[in-house]
Amino acid sequence: MASYLQIADDEKGHDLDLFCVPRHYENDLDKVIIPHGLIMDRTERLARDIIRDMGGHHIVALCVLKGGYKFFADLLDYIKSLNQNSDKSVPLTVDFIRVKSYCNDKSTNNVKVIGGDELSNLSGKNVLIVEDIVETGRTMETLLSLLSECNPKMVKVVSLLVKRTPRSSGYRPDYIGFEVPDAFLVGYALDYNEYFRDLSHICILNDQAKEKYKV
Ligand code: IMP
Ligand code: MG
Repeated sequence: MASYLQIADDEKGHDLDLFCVPRHYENDLDKVIIPHGLIMDRTERLARDIIRDMGGHHIVALCVLKGGYKFFADLLDYIKSLNQNSDKSVPLTVDFIRVKSYCNDKSTNNVKVIGGDELSNLSGKNVLIVEDIVETGRTMETLLSLLSECNPKMVKVVSLLVKRTPRSSGYRPDYIGFEVPDAFLVGYALDYNEYFRDLSHICILNDQAKEKYKV
């Protein structure tokens, strides 16, 4: 079972005033729940764990857009740094896919792949899927079943966050950064209707903001 850093349900988080948060979001957020520095520290360790397990062969890192882009970029930087500072190194290539399943703060049953590279390129490869957050698990289960039709050699999934929620299908990624409470989180590329990707820390969105940015 993957180990992870657990953020408790009663985690009080940190006052926004203690960190740098864009002015335009100041009234939309309750607390900083995972500061950017902690995300980076945990990501560094995930990179090490992944290379330990997958390091024998060429890895294709598959970024699940858009929410995964920050985590993907930072994780790959750490993997690169391991590659250029040790005797063993592993070639790394990148691929991108775009999926959409959310409207406002609700997961819809309809998980759509709406663009990106052809999954058939991944046939015979060791694939590392890089995702921002697993909630119900439906997005990842759909993606894994699409991918299995292309016969990759190996597939591992790393998700920065996994939500503790009764809506979970029970699906768990191979590598997990943090397990988080059942709240709607934004920042570090996680969005609410496309807003808040331009925020460094992971924060809890307040109810007033859910109305303000509703579509
Ligand atoms: P799932 O299919 O329910 O597991 O949801 C996965 C997708 O929903 C993620 O890739 C996110 O894009 C989105 N998502 C789920 N929870 C949150 C959240 O708290 N904030 C932002 N996006 C979320
Ligand atoms: Mg996502």
